[in-house]
Amino acid sequence: MPTALPPSPLHFDAAILGAGAAGLFCAGIAGQRGLKVLVIDHAEKLAEKIRISGGGRCNFTNRDATPAQFLSANPHFCRSALARYTPADFIALVRRHGIGFHEKHKGQLFCDDSAEQIIDLLVAECEAGGVQRWQPCSLAAARAVEGGFELDTSAGPVRCTQFVVASGGLSIPKIGATDIGHRLARQYGHAIVPPRPALVPLTFDASLWAPFVPLAGASLPVQVATGSGKAAGRFDEDLLFTHRGLSGPAVLQISSFWQPGQPLRLNLLPADDIAEQLRQAKAGSRRQLGNALAGLLPQRLADAWLARLDLDATRPLPEVRDKDLQRLADSLARWEITPTGTEGWRKAEVTAGGVDTRELDSRSMASQRQPGLYFIGEVVDVTGWLGGYNFQWAWASAAACAQSL
Ligand code: FDA
Repeated sequence: MPTALPPSPLHFDAAILGAGAAGLFCAGIAGQRGLKVLVIDHAEKLAEKIRISGGGRCNFTNRDATPAQFLSANPHFCRSALARYTPADFIALVRRHGIGFHEKHKGQLFCDDSAEQIIDLLVAECEAGGVQRWQPCSLAAARAVEGGFELDTSAGPVRCTQFVVASGGLSIPKIGATDIGHRLARQYGHAIVPPRPALVPLTFDASLWAPFVPLAGASLPVQVATGSGKAAGRFDEDLLFTHRGLSGPAVLQISSFWQPGQPLRLNLLPADDIAEQLRQAKAGSRRQLGNALAGLLPQRLADAWLARLDLDATRPLPEVRDKDLQRLADSLARWEITPTGTEGWRKAEVTAGGVDTRELDSRSMASQRQPGLYFIGEVVDVTGWLGGYNFQWAWASAAACAQSL
């Protein structure tokens, strides 16, 4: 009897690496366009980053997203995809799935109930497109062959005409983040914009930070800025003191702009002319300086700040020299402090840098080096501000790719 030929590897029109936001969204659209689609992911749990996003409620888009809220070495690259799949498109999909949502702050939209609803939406869209999902399944190697790619997966060999890399960034390795996307890009000759943690708390030298450690947990609205010229960033958001440094939305936002060695410039009372306020208070009351300042700042911060400047918190306001009030006001309005580092990949919400977009087609996310290869989502050098922008990039880049597969 002749020996049976080994079974031919399974063939798909498109194989997608990564069952996260971008991979699942791309798979659903491509499947519903009639393509035979496979998604593989090595993680035990599906779309863990979506599950933990937005404090468990997933800030799934930002109503006001424009290219201005994205950082990239090639700033215009994101325009086309963002224009063709907009926040309104994703909001309409969320509505079609009956998911309740609300706006929290500056256009940021969150699920009323749970981030799981966004995962359910993506799974339902994949099911509607007959998408096959292998998980946990790892990829050992990918080879370009005639007419497509051959993938060695832990579930066996696979052939695909098109190969979409949607394996995300490097943040939070313990839930499955790896550099496989960057390695695949390099394999096909792509440049990588050096990846760095972004939307991440900033840390300081322990001796420099020691006076601020007792402030851990204190929070206040501030203005924060760093850098200059085109590389400058400035945000009006809340600041949070931590045991090791600074966090809160203000610092997460500015961290994406911060470069090692650069100082942060903080205004701790951006809404007030504090020198003027204290001078007026001085005229009409015998309040102590510490109490007056605590009316404007969290008490602990007011106390620590006066101690830093060697000003007596118990001194009645009328006895405080105008010169000292001005020094106090200036120090609050222009606090410059230089971080020594970040909390790293363990705490970063996203990765800045990634696959250099100058070798990708902005309409389709296709590689200009290897036919049939695509990169979408966070693996690409497009990084959104905090506030739903990163998911909007995942949806928009996935839709651009799926339409052209
Ligand atoms: P994503 O990371 O979602 O998916 C990549 C997938 O690839 C993962 O499932 C991973 O397991 C898989 N993978 C990786 N390596 C692999 C390998 N070697 N083999 C096989 N599979 C592999 N954004 C936002 O807009 N609003 C928000 O509220 C938040 N909140 C938030 C909170 C926290 C704590 C984090 C860490 C991040 C956010 N984000 C966010 C950012 C957002 O989660 C992120 O930008 C998107 O998930 C990116 O989508 P991707 O599909 O590109 O990657």
